[in-house]
Amino acid sequence: MPFVKYEPKGDIAYLVIDRPEALNALNAQVLADLDAALDAVDTNTVRCLIVRGAGDKAFVAGADIAQMKDLDSAGGEAFGKQGNDVFLKLESFPIPVIAAVGGYALGGGCELAMACDFRICSDTAVFGQPETGLGITPGFGGTQRLARLVGPGMAKQMIYTARNIKADEALRIGLVNAVYPADELYAAAEKLASTIAANAPIAVRACKKAIDDGAALTIDEAVICEEKAFASCFGTADQREGMGAFLEKRKHEPYTNH
Ligand code: CAA
Repeated sequence: MPFVKYEPKGDIAYLVIDRPEALNALNAQVLADLDAALDAVDTNTVRCLIVRGAGDKAFVAGADIAQMKDLDSAGGEAFGKQGNDVFLKLESFPIPVIAAVGGYALGGGCELAMACDFRICSDTAVFGQPETGLGITPGFGGTQRLARLVGPGMAKQMIYTARNIKADEALRIGLVNAVYPADELYAAAEKLASTIAANAPIAVRACKKAIDDGAALTIDEAVICEEKAFASCFGTADQREGMGAFLEKRKHEPYTNH
């Protein structure tokens, strides 16, 4: 049985990290299954993904410490590359991806959440990069994405101290967008995903690409990303329908992805 389940639900879908006996810890097989699950997503039908962990205790409690313990430097490098490759694939996935964090998101789990477009969490969630307490650095993007999300000062404090933070602090520093009671988290995630799925898919995808491609550029270069995104929407059936419906003072027809 794969450790990552792909569960489509109409025009949204879950990717469930399903190894609850180890709090969904990421070993090489889980990473390979996540890679394969991404390949299985039908992006013609599915317009938004939700990543979550199985069980009610953890999103993902990190990379698998038992698997890492006896690695040498070359083995560590290869494991880090495997994680980074699949997280880069997730980050640049053509449709939006929401991390719904219900419980521990530590080390590789926090890094997995950060490779998604944005994060929401339960009031029981715990985030952290505990790696320096284990004798290693974060290895699946934590030294890079955490600093970009919460700023280098806060990222350095979290990483150097290896101190975990709770949901309210994650919200305060901008690591998550919203906190929900634990039993409402996945309903909230589905509502958000469905709201995104109801908007014009070509436009939503183009926004994701423009935001991501522009992030590392100067503003002069970055606005060219936006111009390309903007241009790509004109002439689509969804643009004609969306603007026509506004001008005719009616609700637009469901968007078609064309
Ligand atoms: N790797 C391997 N196994 C893990 C694991 C991990 N990261 N996290 C939890 N588990 C396993 C435990 O070993 C335990 O297995 P057994 O029942 O076989 O003993 C099971 O999951 C349940 O865990 P606990 O008994 O520890 O549960 P708890 O409620 O007492 O504690 C916890 C929960 C605080 C999250 C604790 O499990 C913990 O601290 N886990 C490790 C967190 C961590 O350090 N993560 C970072 C890993 S390094 C990394 O991720 C590097 C990177 O950037 C790529």
